Amino acid sequence: MKRLLVGLICVSVPFLALYGAVSCFFPKESVKNTPGSDYKENTYDIYVNNHSDEEDVPALSAIEKQLLVVVDRDHALAADFEPPDLVNITDFGIRARDKSMQLRRVIIQDLKAMFDAAEIAGHKLMVFSAYRSYKTQEQVYNYWVNTLGQEEADRSSARPGHSEHQLGTTVDVTALDLEGDVFNDFGSSEAGIWMAENAYKYGFVMSYPEGSELLTGYKYEPWHFRYVGKKVAKAIFENNLIPCNYLLFLATKNKK
Ligand code: DAL
Ligand code: ZN
Repeated sequence: MKRLLVGLICVSVPFLALYGAVSCFFPKESVKNTPGSDYKENTYDIYVNNHSDEEDVPALSAIEKQLLVVVDRDHALAADFEPPDLVNITDFGIRARDKSMQLRRVIIQDLKAMFDAAEIAGHKLMVFSAYRSYKTQEQVYNYWVNTLGQEEADRSSARPGHSEHQLGTTVDVTALDLEGDVFNDFGSSEAGIWMAENAYKYGFVMSYPEGSELLTGYKYEPWHFRYVGKKVAKAIFENNLIPCNYLLFLATKNKK
């Protein structure tokens, strides 16, 4: 019996050691998570496979559904589309680069609550860009084409009709006291980290997260947040999805 046990140990110890070494190189569940790859697409596939039933789609009111229009490289707004309830955001005590900045009235309460919560946490946020009409977006896009060339401009600026800013529910946010580039240094600033972790609680999502360019068509924009309402923002944040994927998923479900 003793000899049998010794034999078993002699055989199994090298086998287990070999298994351990090999399994380090071949993890059981291979999840792609390299920045710049299709990591987000993979999390989306996993999400969709696990949420195929109708009851998995959050129950949304008509107003909440209206906030979910897909605007991306493939889906455009009409040139004459203008949101119905634009207001000047500084009238509501929201800090902005310019007094003329406007957003839809329907998102003001949550935007203000987010700015107030950020301030309590020690971050003075500021809106750097808000609603942009089709015409304004045309000027912005042309400016970047002239500055960077078309190929590079297309990675960071939406063509007219294709910008979420035309919805009136999208903001570019930065920190008032940010040292460095108001956009590019925001993501690694304390205020930017706070926004990335907390914006969803107020209904906002980062439209172009790091590593999603292959899907969104745009480079990482840690400053660009779109309002989708709290339920949808929570689903996107908690499942690590990218907004345009999830909004398309909801659009398909809502058609049925
Ligand atoms: N920068 C984003 C893609 C826009 O122009 O709407
Ligand atoms: Zn933006």
